[in-house]
Amino acid sequence: MDPDSTQQPIATPVVRTADRLQPFGTTVFAKISRKALAAQAINLGQGFPDFEGPDFVKEAAAKAIFDHPNQYAPLGGLPVLTKAIADRWREDAKTPIDHATQVTVTAGCTEAIAATILGLINPGEKVIIFEPFYDSYLACLALAGAELIAVSLHRSPGGDFAFDPDELAHAAAQPGVRAILLNTPHNPTGKVFSRDELHTIATLCCDNDLIAITDEVYDRLVYRDPFNPQAKHVRLATYNGMADRTVTLNSLGKTFSLTGWKIGWAIACPELTAGVRAAHQFLTFAVATPLQHAAAVALGVDDSYYGQLADTFRAQRDLLADALESLGFAFARPAGGYFILADHTAVSHRLGLADDMAMCDYLIDHVGVATIPPSVFYTRPELGRSLLRFAFCKTEATLHAAIERLGRMKK
Ligand SMILES: Cc1ncc(COP(=O)(O)O)c(C=O)c1O
Repeated sequence: MDPDSTQQPIATPVVRTADRLQPFGTTVFAKISRKALAAQAINLGQGFPDFEGPDFVKEAAAKAIFDHPNQYAPLGGLPVLTKAIADRWREDAKTPIDHATQVTVTAGCTEAIAATILGLINPGEKVIIFEPFYDSYLACLALAGAELIAVSLHRSPGGDFAFDPDELAHAAAQPGVRAILLNTPHNPTGKVFSRDELHTIATLCCDNDLIAITDEVYDRLVYRDPFNPQAKHVRLATYNGMADRTVTLNSLGKTFSLTGWKIGWAIACPELTAGVRAAHQFLTFAVATPLQHAAAVALGVDDSYYGQLADTFRAQRDLLADALESLGFAFARPAGGYFILADHTAVSHRLGLADDMAMCDYLIDHVGVATIPPSVFYTRPELGRSLLRFAFCKTEATLHAAIERLGRMKK
């Protein structure tokens, strides 16, 4: 007899997302990108370039597929890449590191964040994060069963963001705190943490025996100019006492406009690296071998590449910033990264829109431009309701088209 014809009632399977991930739903980036596509809106939401990375890196990847084995790379990464990462580190941080025991190649910075948190933070331990924050941090804490202590980056009337040192010191002194997670240059504010701010953070880490996790994916995108005369990327790991308590995270995606490659890395002392690798071996074990060969070629690039890259992004920032200012958005020009975080109050009042979500929906549906509503980057969403995040990592043509559409908003 056909087993399907028994007429037995079939139990409905219980299918649901695990409790620890329930609160997160789908990331805002996927949601906005989907909406933008459906509405044919120009996507200034998700932070990815709409232009390609350099040909010499793509050619190196194509060649690697044919010239080298396409099998698993070692857990820590291909030696040719870990050496290239260690070489760059020696040049930038002026300290040598051992590529074999201090560098771990991961699937983008996203996996480096996850492996660091899962590998070094115990359930119930607390991690301090500056808010607003990149959304994967909170989800990774939830995966690790760790707790968040959010310390705000307060917005000054001029649009700059800064933390209150007393608030940070109070957070660092709480029982059960294990780490401070820092992102500089910062997404979404564009803040580049100053030497003094990093000194404060380093001192707190040493005084309270905390580790630091620094996400530096925008390290090459720093715009020192009359708007930000002091801007300079400084690595927290280079501060006194920090080399043995810092995990520095980075990736190829932003620096080489290859966000789809997902080649990232974590740099730390051997003891912290052991923790990162303990998680990495079970998350991905190793990442795309040919792309690791090409990443090594990319990192061998002459320093002038980075200068040109920052010049290009600065021009894109200014193109969009000039237009947004003339429309009534209020912000300080970002010193680093891909984004302008602007106060939309003057514009949204004119349009009768309540908050960042309403503004974001309006811009997609009626103006044809997608942005990100920053309240999702806060534990206290009310702090982000008057803001909107615009990505300027787009071609001049894309930015001009978006500016033209934004200009049609009724004044
Ligand atoms: C602050 C920050 N960290 C990490 C990432 C993710 O990096 P990757 O694409 O290398 O995984 C992003 C991407 O937008 C980011 O903005």
